[in-house]
Amino acid sequence: MTADTIAAPRTPAPRRKGVNLEKWGWVYMRASGVLLIVLIFGHLFVNLMLGEGVRGIDFAFVAGKYATPFWQWWDVVMLWLALIHGTNGMRTIVNDYVTHNGTRRVLVWALWLVAAFLILLGTLVVFTFDPCIPPVPGALAGVCAG
Ligand code: HEM
Repeated sequence: MTADTIAAPRTPAPRRKGVNLEKWGWVYMRASGVLLIVLIFGHLFVNLMLGEGVRGIDFAFVAGKYATPFWQWWDVVMLWLALIHGTNGMRTIVNDYVTHNGTRRVLVWALWLVAAFLILLGTLVVFTFDPCIPPVPGALAGVCAG
């Protein structure tokens, strides 16, 4: 087979030593996809359907959710899984379409750097969020005074 011939589907890949990152990336996309269905639709249901629904969302609503470790962890797990899932998906697309080696390496590095930055920033925001830093909105005046 020459370099520009596409192998028949299901042709076994040549065996290589070490961890097969492509295989684990494939497994991760399926496993995180299943978890994301629960996390994303749970998130949408709780925020948009329960209580006052979408009209109930304001700063105090977010402050209330982030006062409980359960929602902090829900959102952080959703953030990590979705960002790694989306970035790995974009890596697949870049690998499929970008033929120039150098450009592909730069783009894939840029993808992971942006993902790492957003994961760090998002995780810090969720765990360090303090609604009582002035100016405190009226709805939280009582909570923050205590
Ligand atoms: C409801 C939750 C989700 C499920 C069940 C899901 C499932 C999947 C699966 C199974 C794949 C692999 C497809 C393949 O290899 O052919 C995939 C690819 C992908 N996903 Fe998700 N996903 C979900 C949410 C997300 C989110 C939130 C993002 C963005 C942050 C995202 C971005 C992507 C991208 C960019 C790809 C690559 C598409 C491609 O290869 O053409 N997905 N998804």
